[in-house]
Amino acid sequence: MAKIEFKNVGHSYDQTAKHPVYALKPFSLSWEDGGRYALLGPSGCGKTTMLNIISGLITPSEGNVFFNDQNITSVKTEQRNIAQVFQFPVIYNTMSVYDNLAFPLKCRKFSESHIRKKVNEVAEILNLSSVIDSGAKRLTADQKQLISLGRGLVREDVAAVLMDEPLTVIDPDLKFKLRRKLKEINSKYKTTLIYVTHDQNEAMTFAEKIIVMDSGQIVQRGSSKELFERPSTTFVAYFIGSPAMNIFNCSIANNELILGKFKLKIDKNPDQITSNDLKVGIRSEFIDLSDKPKENSIHVKIKSNEDFGNYKLLTCEFDNLEIKVKIKREQNVTSETTYLILSKNRLCLYEKEKLIN
Ligand SMILES: Nc1ncnc2c1ncn2[C@@H]1O[C@H](COP(=O)(O)OP(=O)(O)O)[C@@H](O)[C@H]1O
Ligand SMILES: [Mg+2]
Repeated sequence: MAKIEFKNVGHSYDQTAKHPVYALKPFSLSWEDGGRYALLGPSGCGKTTMLNIISGLITPSEGNVFFNDQNITSVKTEQRNIAQVFQFPVIYNTMSVYDNLAFPLKCRKFSESHIRKKVNEVAEILNLSSVIDSGAKRLTADQKQLISLGRGLVREDVAAVLMDEPLTVIDPDLKFKLRRKLKEINSKYKTTLIYVTHDQNEAMTFAEKIIVMDSGQIVQRGSSKELFERPSTTFVAYFIGSPAMNIFNCSIANNELILGKFKLKIDKNPDQITSNDLKVGIRSEFIDLSDKPKENSIHVKIKSNEDFGNYKLLTCEFDNLEIKVKIKREQNVTSETTYLILSKNRLCLYEKEKLIN
């Protein structure tokens, strides 16, 4: 197992171009040994490129990669001791499930008894015990992907297990169970896991630390809570959470934030602001209703009230702007208008799309 570190790593696929386009813009980052990470971002943002640089399938056009402080930038994939699981299963169809799982260990010449113990243990975890002697060819797509996953997990000596959207072909119920299994494996064997996904729920339920990417850049690294409560850019604010964060253009004058015809109190020292490109964001989960005006409240018209079973979502309007509010399902709203309390410690202030407070 290893601590993985990128120092000014960047990558362009076309290095002959006059102005290379970065699939991954240069950055530095480290992944702690034994950590459970998710790489989250929309399609094309550079997740697979980053993963392939870790495994050595791609040599970065700039910068250096370190495993446990050793520069391995030019070390071949086979010598990096990385297990990589791809989006679609990569298995030996002519072999049994057992032999597929045993293969990585046989290659490394582990004893028969160690192999048997380890394969059975991983098969048990992945619910493959009942098909352990079957030919891999006859299995379903789900089961084949479980084998791919299993082959990454049988090895205790790996520097990290990298998974590139590995559960795409797996049905949602099993997905949920597998994520839990992966967490168990991570805490039992302390294997560094890096899990790539474009699905925020997958990332949030799996990882201790999420690395959010956008257009070849890392935009935030943090826990689910940090990403949810203090998104560092408006992109993260939109990308994380459902519904996305409510975000509005605003301005600041006399230590107050001006949102349409309303004035809100803020903590921020406005001296730090250098431009007019200001936005304020607030999560629909952090807004309270009031039937009378209070500090930092805005008066809104309620346009719709949707019942999602475990919560209700109000869509409200002020100054031709829409604001969404999540309320408890027991809460009854009968009036046509209400006051929304936008507490100052829940407001996120963005200048040029970046969080400043
Ligand atoms: N082999 C390649 N050659 C040229 N461009 C590529 C190649 N692979 C990926 N790209 C480009 O690099 C960018 C990042 O791609 P990728 O890392 O696959 O993103 P993701 O995994 O987040 O969908 C995209 O713009 C993609 O088109
Ligand atoms: Mg990809």
